[in-house]
Amino acid sequence: MNTVVVGLQWGDEGKGKIIDFLCKNSDVVVRFQGGNNAGHTVVIKGKKFIFHLIPSGILREDKVCAIGNGVVVDPKVLLTEIDSLKECGIKVSPDNLKLSAHAHIVMPYHRIMDALREQKRFQKIGTTKRGIGPCYMDKVSRCGIRTVDFINPRVFAFKLKDNLNEKNSIFKKVYGFKGFSFEGIYEEYRLLARRLKPYICDLPTYFYTQKKKKFLFEGAQGTFLDLDFGTYPFVTSSSVVSSNSLVGSGLSFIRPGKIIGVAKSYTTRVGEGPFPTELKGKFLNYFRQKGVEFGATTGRPRRCGWIDLVLLKRAAIINNVTEINLTKMDVLDNLKTIKACIDYKRGSRIVSSFPSDLNRIKPVYKEFPGWQESVSKFRKFSDLPREAKQYINFIEDFVKVKISLISVGEKRESVLKKC
Ligand code: GDP
Ligand code: IMO
Ligand code: MG
Repeated sequence: MNTVVVGLQWGDEGKGKIIDFLCKNSDVVVRFQGGNNAGHTVVIKGKKFIFHLIPSGILREDKVCAIGNGVVVDPKVLLTEIDSLKECGIKVSPDNLKLSAHAHIVMPYHRIMDALREQKRFQKIGTTKRGIGPCYMDKVSRCGIRTVDFINPRVFAFKLKDNLNEKNSIFKKVYGFKGFSFEGIYEEYRLLARRLKPYICDLPTYFYTQKKKKFLFEGAQGTFLDLDFGTYPFVTSSSVVSSNSLVGSGLSFIRPGKIIGVAKSYTTRVGEGPFPTELKGKFLNYFRQKGVEFGATTGRPRRCGWIDLVLLKRAAIINNVTEINLTKMDVLDNLKTIKACIDYKRGSRIVSSFPSDLNRIKPVYKEFPGWQESVSKFRKFSDLPREAKQYINFIEDFVKVKISLISVGEKRESVLKKC
């Protein structure tokens, strides 16, 4: 069955770990949006791998991994990722890694523009400063450089000159930044293009030859960072929801059978923007330390809060989720009481429909008794403490989607199937 995996919160739900588990049963793993703003962690035999651009399936030798047209690719980051995987003895070659000819290239001026715009903005977004937003802006305004342009020296030179012409005057006039010289970028990036060339292919044609295979789509970010459905403007610049998986990969001739939404058993967020169940003080410290809540890409401390079931229910609907995978249950061990947001209030009134702005929203909580043992050792749902089962069953009933997999530790084997 073809499967799409998406995040149901604000990213970092544990998608990397879930993809690593699920890809045992797939042939091709595909990233369809985002860029190296993503950081997907897989821990195997004590070794931690963090993927920014390469799909997390690369650790399994018999899988093909693909980076779709919807992804924005920083060539330096991709090549570094390839090199460091090879150093660890992981096979990465044009046979098992395919890069879409239509993915857009993140250029140095995108990264600088991202940082300068953040600096100047009155209302900061807290971006990863990886140049993601400016690269997607160029894609939409039709001046972007695709991988197919990048590997053609003449086309690359022409597009780079055209872009620098416009961007250098914006840099100077608006930001007082000196800008970039053509020579400074061209020579270095030509070398990168030469190294990337063998991986580039026309993905729809390749996929068509593989259409009997099982595809697994690896979503990045999370539903509330989505450009359309997220907490705009505190969002990323791509469509992260399940319905973009086919457009962002060029795989229009298959149908996803399963759509798996990954959710943490609490909530985290990196960067600015509203967060109704956000915690301060001792509980924030508890989650940050026990859950090691520091960004896998930027290292920034993550904001932490209780699970928000109002958001989860909405994310399940937006993505047409058929199953939920719940992660980090072990982080809730030893809490006396666990809270889950089941309604929103504005002032003293319950908000009846989903609010367009989460800023002045107050959560209404249901409290659950905690459990006082480690759930990491369990491999069967029926063995979990009664209180943990009660919490999981409530989430399932509230969101009205079955929870098929529960993660109880960072290691590959720390998972249990519910159904
Ligand atoms: P992603 O972006 O959704 O792939 O998630 P990240 O990799 O950014 O962040 C998830 C973090 O939680 C990583 O450090 C994982 O190793 C870790 N993790 C995943 N599942 C579990 C779990 O069940 N328990 C614990 N304690 N850690 C987990
Ligand atoms: P994964 O795939 C968590 C957040 C940034 C910022 C906002 C916009 O690991 O779950 P951007 O650089 O995309 O323009 O930043 O989005 N953000 C993420 N937060 N996990 C991610 O990816 C994220 N990718 C972007 O922190 O708030
Ligand atoms: Mg992450």
